[in-house]
Amino acid sequence: MRPHRFDSIEYDFSQLANRFTYEELIAHLPEILTRDLDDNLCVCNSIAKKRVIRAMHEGAGSMAQIREACMAGDGTGCCKLQLKHLLDAIQKLKDA
Ligand code: FES
Repeated sequence: MRPHRFDSIEYDFSQLANRFTYEELIAHLPEILTRDLDDNLCVCNSIAKKRVIRAMHEGAGSMAQIREACMAGDGTGCCKLQLKHLLDAIQKLKDA
């Protein structure tokens, strides 16, 4: 797979679950990012948005960790902008 410009994003979400439950995390994210949770965020691998957010909640803070946790982003890479938006929003919440 070709390197992608968002592959360098690396946040530490290892303690995220100690701070927020999954439901709290969803509730605190911008509504635009949590719409249609059952729909596939990663169409290439049929990975629902809720599965991706759960992977981030469980500590996946980079494209590689997300890929390892749930396979999202492991196709053409066309969902990586959406993954970046979620990663950035969660990092912002973490820093608040
Ligand atoms: S939609 Fe996720 S890699 Fe293509």
